[in-house]
Amino acid sequence: MSFRITGTGSYLPPNIVTNEDYEKIVDTSDEWIVQRTGIKTRHFVDKDKGNVDMCLIAAKNAMQMAGVTKEDIGGIIVGTCTSETACPSLAGSLQRALEIGCCVSFDVSAACSGFLFALKTAERFMTEIDKCVLVVGSEVLSRYLNMEDRATCVLFGDGAGAVVLKPGNHVKYLRIFTMPDSNYTLNIEGANIEKDGKLVRAQVSMKGREVYAFATKEFDRVIKEGLKTAGIEAEQVDLFVLHQANLRIIEAAAKRLCIPMDKVITNIQENGNISAACIPVALDQANREGRLKKGDIVVLAAVGGGLSSGCAVLEW
Ligand code: ACO
Repeated sequence: MSFRITGTGSYLPPNIVTNEDYEKIVDTSDEWIVQRTGIKTRHFVDKDKGNVDMCLIAAKNAMQMAGVTKEDIGGIIVGTCTSETACPSLAGSLQRALEIGCCVSFDVSAACSGFLFALKTAERFMTEIDKCVLVVGSEVLSRYLNMEDRATCVLFGDGAGAVVLKPGNHVKYLRIFTMPDSNYTLNIEGANIEKDGKLVRAQVSMKGREVYAFATKEFDRVIKEGLKTAGIEAEQVDLFVLHQANLRIIEAAAKRLCIPMDKVITNIQENGNISAACIPVALDQANREGRLKKGDIVVLAAVGGGLSSGCAVLEW
């Protein structure tokens, strides 16, 4: 048994941080950030809010679109690498916030590929749950930024996206991968570890050029393999929803695959990189803009920390 997506929802915090705001705190410029990444703005969650607040709104929006109530939900899987609590999981906190009684809820940690890892896990769960499954991607990366490191602090934002899955046969291909990150190219380290006798705050660190090289090659590999296995030509795809790491990475991937950019949704310009939330937020945006019609072929692809990657070829 497989699934079909019957509802999408998303939430982006109202607090918008511009490139000009960064010009005031690090040695950077709007011109540098736009030219190298495409990013103009990103959303940061308010101090008194967190992942679960964003997840709740995204999930409710998706459930409303799918026409389901909390009684219809049998499972919640959240892709995140920024849960405020290790226990309960973010999915467990969302279950509590949605006031869902007994179901199965847990998180999946695969950084920027987290949503696709959660989707793959949900696909397996659909065989034993005769109800709907909520799959969510949510991140508060603003709390993991080193605001003195101009090479990383300008890249990320906060947000959440959700989908409701019902049993169905709309999955033509869905695979996830991890490669060992032998060179520590992308890390969020520091939760409760000591360095030089001090407790370290968890922070993003990255070797940008290495991540860039991995991401462009890996998008190409996973999408080509996905399309080939599904027996679908790139021209037959109606929409590509790629992880929003950097506009230049997305454009390079599209060029390698000979995909016109009007078939690729981009929102990194407004949202920055929201890791596991990128794909469900972009999917919801496309859906609400009427860019997805019944029977359309949609490709979801992610690459990120881990090093992780994944691709889904879905019929809408
Ligand atoms: N403003 C101004 N200058 C900057 C900034 C900034 N925000 N950040 C770095 N620089 C400087 C560097 O210090 C360096 O200066 P130097 O030449 O005096 O030493 C110069 O710009 C060039 O730095 P590079 O890191 O070589 O710049 P590059 O062209 O590679 O762009 C970037 C950096 C945008 C991070 C790029 O490598 C990239 O996009 N990598 C992909 C990483 C990514 O997207 N990660 C997201 C998470 S992972 C994922 O989602 C897949």
